[in-house]
Amino acid sequence: MAEAQTGHVAGAGGAHRIEYVEDVVKAFLIATAFWGVVGFTVGLVIALQLAWPQLNLGFEYTTFGRLRPLHTSAVIFAFGGNALLGTSLHVVQRTCRARLFGGAEAGWFLFWGYQFFIVMAALGYVMGITQSKEYAEPEWYVDLWLTLVWVVYLIVFMGTVMKREEPHIYVANWFYLAFIITIAVLHIGNNLSIPVSLFGARSYHVTAGVQDAMIQWWYGHNAVGFFLTAGFLAMMYYIIPKQADRPIYSYRLSIVHFWSLIFLYIWAGPHHLHYTALPDWAQTLGMVFSVMLWMPSWGGMINGIMTLAGAWHKLRTDPSLRFSVTAVGFYGMSTFEGPVMSIKAVNALSHYTDWTIGHVHSGAMGWVGFICFGALYYLVPVMWKRERLYSVRMVSWHYWIATIGIVLYITAMWVSGIMQGLMWRAYDDLGFLQYAFVETVAAMHPFYIIRALGGLLFVLGSVMMAYNLWRTIRGDVRASEVTPARAGYAAAPAE
Ligand code: HEM
Ligand code: HEM
Repeated sequence: MAEAQTGHVAGAGGAHRIEYVEDVVKAFLIATAFWGVVGFTVGLVIALQLAWPQLNLGFEYTTFGRLRPLHTSAVIFAFGGNALLGTSLHVVQRTCRARLFGGAEAGWFLFWGYQFFIVMAALGYVMGITQSKEYAEPEWYVDLWLTLVWVVYLIVFMGTVMKREEPHIYVANWFYLAFIITIAVLHIGNNLSIPVSLFGARSYHVTAGVQDAMIQWWYGHNAVGFFLTAGFLAMMYYIIPKQADRPIYSYRLSIVHFWSLIFLYIWAGPHHLHYTALPDWAQTLGMVFSVMLWMPSWGGMINGIMTLAGAWHKLRTDPSLRFSVTAVGFYGMSTFEGPVMSIKAVNALSHYTDWTIGHVHSGAMGWVGFICFGALYYLVPVMWKRERLYSVRMVSWHYWIATIGIVLYITAMWVSGIMQGLMWRAYDDLGFLQYAFVETVAAMHPFYIIRALGGLLFVLGSVMMAYNLWRTIRGDVRASEVTPARAGYAAAPAE
């Protein structure tokens, strides 16, 4: 495997070659596909457990309570995280025309350090070690390790930006940088805990009660805003123009999008704590900022989709572009739904119900999942210098199977969530609750089966993708598709 690809830069001293660090990026791409299949499969398992609780199997290690954080962390931090780290290291080098700061050594430290974090966290979940903070479950020893890896990441990324030969800092790098810095701040803030003993896997956070809840959801919401959103927007700003072979629709809009998004997101956390002990003014503040978030979110969506102006026809021939564009559509949908759900009167119905789960997965499967699939389908042929993917038709199959899977998942959750909320608040003529809790659980059963079916389709699509990428890396082309390379699948133009 070649260690590096090269780029040419014409400077004052004449043209010279830049040895990009590419093997590390390749490793991150492989890890993304691998952890994606693992994380989605665990999602399917817990979906089946909710439909048929016998599947908890009676072992503590396989209970829903332990596998749920395994799923959320595997999809967010392992699948999404590897995609973000890998693409960011690629994008920053190419758009800055600079070799990675710290070279391949720093890159490999990041790769293995991050995988070590994932494995340590996953082992902890299965063994029941948790600090009970959603999306921040790992205990202090894992947190300390991740802090070290993340600081190296920041140095490598910033260092590359600072030694750039391109005067301009492309907007994708702004989003990646906001993601890296904010996640560092959130991670440290939400994990300020004191270990019970040096060798004990247990700690207590420095704050307690409602302050602790506030810090947790300041973290939780901004993990959505900066991990699941800002980082993937960076991906969008690089991948869609590349796939469509067009410049971004509006550079000015991307700058307005960036500053308004990062300013507004950070205040919206209290919408997770409506009708709790949190002071009312803080809840209202969270609601108002959430509603305002709709505008920059849709500004970004319009910027992504309109980049296709003049290149719409490519959607017909390039199913990987279809993934990226549909991802942006799902981004628009979930960022419309989120502000609606943050309104207190609506949240009174949606909170604690499957409606939230439907919202999460339209963002997570539709936006995060699809933008990653689009990026993988684009980057694998580029990085391994293949003329085209093994099978374009298979990408199209993946697209339809996964889309139907998402639609089944989210519609089942909307129906079951709204039904659940309405059943909880239904009173009879005498003022008694009309339904016992267990009746609401029984009513959700059919929808849990539909959700699991949607999940199964999503998993099947991802296995198909992993196979397609593996054959592409090997340099194969599916026999029935040996035709001249289609537009959009030629290796990327030299930069
Ligand atoms: C095959 C695909 C998937 C299936 C079957 C699946 C299934 C599930 C299930 C059953 C739950 C627990 C719901 C509950 O407690 O009521 C869950 C939670 C969650 N999943 Fe997935 N999931 C999938 C894909 C994803 C992806 C791709 C992501 C993110 C990139 C994701 C992120 C989450 C998150 C953040 C939660 C926690 C939601 C909350 O606490 O409100 N999932 N998933
Ligand atoms: C303008 C943008 C958005 C706003 C204002 C927003 C708002 C909300 C609201 C109000 C909730 C329910 C809180 C509750 O009742 O507990 C929620 C939950 C959630 N949202 Fe969003 N959302 C937005 C976009 C997104 C996107 C794009 C994603 C995923 C990529 C996402 C992921 C989640 C997750 C994971 C949860 C569940 C948190 C939990 O309880 O575990 N959101 N969001």
